Amino acid sequence: MFEQLKTLPQDPILGLMKTFREDTRSNKVDLGVGVYRDEAGNTPIMAAVQQAQQRLLETETTKAYIGPAGAEGFNQLIGQLLLGGNHPALKDGRVNVVQTPGGCGALRMAAEFLKLCKPDTTVWVSTPTWANHIPLLGGANLNIREYPYLDKATLSVEFDAMMACLEQAEAGDVVLLHGCCHNPSGADLDADQWAAITDLVERKGLLPFIDIAYQGLGENLDQDAQGVRLMAERLPEVIVASSCSKNFGLYRERTGALMLISANAQQGQAATSQLLSAIRSHYSMPPSHGAAVVEMILDTPELMQAWQSELEAMCVRILDLRAALSQALAPAGDFSFIERQRGMFSFLGITPQQVQILREEFGIYMLDSSRINIAGLSADTLPLVSEAMREVLGRTE
Ligand code: LMR
Repeated sequence: MFEQLKTLPQDPILGLMKTFREDTRSNKVDLGVGVYRDEAGNTPIMAAVQQAQQRLLETETTKAYIGPAGAEGFNQLIGQLLLGGNHPALKDGRVNVVQTPGGCGALRMAAEFLKLCKPDTTVWVSTPTWANHIPLLGGANLNIREYPYLDKATLSVEFDAMMACLEQAEAGDVVLLHGCCHNPSGADLDADQWAAITDLVERKGLLPFIDIAYQGLGENLDQDAQGVRLMAERLPEVIVASSCSKNFGLYRERTGALMLISANAQQGQAATSQLLSAIRSHYSMPPSHGAAVVEMILDTPELMQAWQSELEAMCVRILDLRAALSQALAPAGDFSFIERQRGMFSFLGITPQQVQILREEFGIYMLDSSRINIAGLSADTLPLVSEAMREVLGRTE
């Protein structure tokens, strides 16, 4: 059976992570995979997470099964974190949340759920989008179509082209949107654009599917969720995939959630029963530890406060690095877009050859698309990276 299988190329993001690990140069810089790093280049366990883990260790009494929906308390608290405590959809009982194995688990189960709703569902994704979106959704055999999102010249959202393209979508089609901190471009929709796309989706009977993996790392927890909150209020149905990997630093614990906003409580109950049955037939139930940590933090005022302050500091650090990088690159061209963009990622807008030179000659790693993880920079590495960039850009001018 196996002899006919060919070796596949490595995943572009995870493959780069491996190549970086194998590079023996001491001055190498990892701007590849999207993990937050502190000034020392580490990805520390957040203080609130450490405390919650300690409390769990002392108080946990069982490891018995918890069920396909995961922890009820976690689900409720994540719903409130995404929507804000007083959101009308919560009051109207239109919200159902299930815990998933990371944001990827949420995306894939949303795809399986969409297939149950309509086997030939079409999902519209932004060009560009996160490298794993298409495998996750296409792997569930959904039809994928693309809408233009990023103007390559200005590296900002080409909103008119996006809207014009989505006019072609048909009722029942799904539109995948990034809730904040667009991955890979960092170019986000503003409040007016969210309002306009909500109008379009409503008028055409489309279903928005929002992936929000970086809440709190763009502007703040509330503003980053503005699109999710608006759509959940105005539209009968919305799907939201969320992740605790980045904002709680729980990457390897695989902690995420899938939220279904339904037209009413009764439809929500039926939809959730279908989703839970799909979960049971895929992985049965999600892992517990990360969600238990998040639940304890969100449910304990002093831990919540500690977590929020640490998250705010991470967000401010990213914003500061954005300003410093755009300034340091100014002699080589207009990189002011880096300061305008939000979240962990921006494209540098350089060629794959220049990306390769940076990797091979300078030990600076970024994706071939020139996506960099801003949070991978530090006061030490930023000058190295900007000097190398200036040199490489000067060389090929
Ligand atoms: C990234 O985009 O680098 C992260 O979301 C990590 C991943 O799984 O790709």
